[in-house]
Amino acid sequence: MSFALQATFYRSYIAILKLVTILMPLRKPQLFKGETAVEELAQSILADGIKQLLIVSDAQLVKVGLVGQIEQQLQTAGIGTTVYDGVLPDPTIDQIEAGLYQLQQSQAEAVLAIGGGSPIDAAKVIAARSKNNKPIRKMAGMFRITRGMIPMYAIPTTAGTGSEVTPGAVVSDPEATLKFTIIDPRVIPHKAALDGALMTGLPATITAATGMDALTHAVEAYLSNNAYWATNQHALKAAQLVMQYLPRAVADGSDLEARHNMAEASHLAGLAITKAGVGYVHTISHNLAARYHTAHGLTNAIVMPHVLDYSKSKCAARLARLARQCDIGNATQSDLELADLFIDRIRQMNASFGIPQHYEKLKAKDIPNIARGALNEARFTYGVPRYMDQGRCETLVQQLNPLLQSA
Ligand SMILES: NC(=O)c1ccc[n+]([C@@H]2O[C@H](COP(=O)([O-])OP(=O)(O)OC[C@H]3O[C@@H](n4cnc5c(N)ncnc54)[C@H](O)[C@@H]3O)[C@@H](O)[C@H]2O)c1
Ligand SMILES: [Fe+2]
Repeated sequence: MSFALQATFYRSYIAILKLVTILMPLRKPQLFKGETAVEELAQSILADGIKQLLIVSDAQLVKVGLVGQIEQQLQTAGIGTTVYDGVLPDPTIDQIEAGLYQLQQSQAEAVLAIGGGSPIDAAKVIAARSKNNKPIRKMAGMFRITRGMIPMYAIPTTAGTGSEVTPGAVVSDPEATLKFTIIDPRVIPHKAALDGALMTGLPATITAATGMDALTHAVEAYLSNNAYWATNQHALKAAQLVMQYLPRAVADGSDLEARHNMAEASHLAGLAITKAGVGYVHTISHNLAARYHTAHGLTNAIVMPHVLDYSKSKCAARLARLARQCDIGNATQSDLELADLFIDRIRQMNASFGIPQHYEKLKAKDIPNIARGALNEARFTYGVPRYMDQGRCETLVQQLNPLLQSA
């Protein structure tokens, strides 16, 4: 099939998907915000009749005392807890299965994630797996969680993924060197507590990388062909908040105003991708991270300017709208100039956070499979503004490592 025909077919499919997603009512988690959020969530879990909870987190969060602090609040409310802290960044099938085993051993009736996207996604799949007796690989794709999940709650400790509100969970499959996405409204957490104060201990490098993930969500959702007025509102506000507050949160981790606003930005960007989806930045990034094990937000931050340069001929007006929203440029400048300024600003933010411009781990021999994996993941799911075929995607991926071009 020719490139033009493929692109037309793809766009028609995405147009149908857009209609379905706009019309489909999606549950939102009941949200508690601010300094009393965790306490209110604990009371609400109790009101749900839950007596025993499995906390899903990671060892680092246990070490810094965040898990203990929240566990204490739950126990004070009269809820018994067991902690599974075996989740690592980019959770694998095995880590999720081990969490499921703990759930069954502890006889917990519900799951509470405490952490970034990794523990939240792992907890979603543990809660879904306990009701759906099928291999996790078979949950990949859309609408495969037919039996729903047990009660699942989330307390995010990073401002990046927005996973506390999204219908997605990303799982690493080391055997297949890929990350796959489970997309199903049934994995949206039932309740969540959002408190920027839980993020003040996040190191600057992780603050920067996770914050750039939130920006990627806002930008990809805003540029998506699946975007509509509600997702646009969320995406624009999220992009503005990240541009304004991420530099402050990175410079001073204890800046509570910046932390609260980044938590809000991450949540809004999560709402935006819930209906509009992400795009090639994410699909290329997933395929890089599955091979070379780089952090999700960092990988997105490196890939984003390259994908935007490729896409801008088809979405200059929307990039310009993002620029205006973020106070970049002035009224006399054309859409194309503003689009370029917006992409430049992303490059400048990356540089100021010490995020490299290029992806030097990339090996030439892996490029065809990375491109194939990225296109497969995007196909039939994401409404990207400018379609790529295998050749174009390989060229873009190769540009991520200029050392390969001079070799
Ligand atoms: N479900 C979704 O919608 C969605 C969207 C985007 C990304 N993801 C996935 O989420 C994962 C990435 O999540 P992430 O970027 O939030 O990072 P993460 O959960 O992997 O955490 C990164 C590191 O930060 C540490 N950390 C987290 N909170 C901390 C705190 N408050 N203080 C000190 N250290 C802290 C963790 O211990 C970990 O070492 C990836 O697997 C990605 O693919 C999911
Ligand atoms: Fe992301």
